[in-house]
Amino acid sequence: MWKKFKAFLLKIKTNSYVYISHEAQIKGRTYRLRLMQESDIKEVLAVERDVYFGEVPWTRSNFLLELRNPLKHLYLVITDNEKVIGFAGSRVRRENCHITNIAVASTHQNQGIGTYLLNEVKKYGKEMNAKELSLEVRMSNKNAQRLYRRFGFVSEKVLKGYYTEIKDDGLRMVYALKEEEHASN
Ligand SMILES: CC(C)(COP(=O)(O)OP(=O)(O)OC[C@H]1O[C@@H](n2cnc3c(N)ncnc32)[C@H](O)[C@@H]1OP(=O)(O)O)[C@@H](O)C(=O)NCCC(=O)NCCS
Repeated sequence: MWKKFKAFLLKIKTNSYVYISHEAQIKGRTYRLRLMQESDIKEVLAVERDVYFGEVPWTRSNFLLELRNPLKHLYLVITDNEKVIGFAGSRVRRENCHITNIAVASTHQNQGIGTYLLNEVKKYGKEMNAKELSLEVRMSNKNAQRLYRRFGFVSEKVLKGYYTEIKDDGLRMVYALKEEEHASN
């Protein structure tokens, strides 16, 4: 209760989002959610290497730039026994909350963690008065597309040749936050 009140006061003072670290029960296991720190980047890159077969689509400097970005942003990690096993990043510009990156270590996939992370970003987007969540996904990444569709994202546009290095098209997907609020009213 005190934590929430403190966060509320801080929010008024700084006019920014205060993410409250917390434990989460996902499929009967306890994890911890917290803001990504620069000191987490090494472990975040290890998750990337794990899921992208040794590649790191985002380098250390990409993450550093994001964490230091003056635009409103939220970068989260999820830990299992203090080991980073997943992360999600997003930034807000005007009424758009863009999901820049999300990954869950292969040992922990298909257990609801990706969905949990998306929900945390969704709460953030709503709090920031965004009207939509958006993201780009590789056309060939059917697993991720399935997760997004299940979550409620819809395809908006095919981005021809979007991923130049891996020679793949991109798919822009969006999730309307306002519509959902109206629907639930
Ligand atoms: C895409 C990704 C983040 C999804 O993470 P995840 O933690 O496996 O996601 P979830 O577990 O929430 O959902 C995945 C599947 O598990 C199922 N699932 C969700 N909760 C579950 C639970 N409690 N028990 C069993 N299965 C569950 C979902 O129904 C979903 O099934 P589907 O594939 O038939 O839709 C992960 O696969 C990943 O890191 N991929 C590599 C990186 C990547 O592609 N990132 C996206 C870039 S755009």
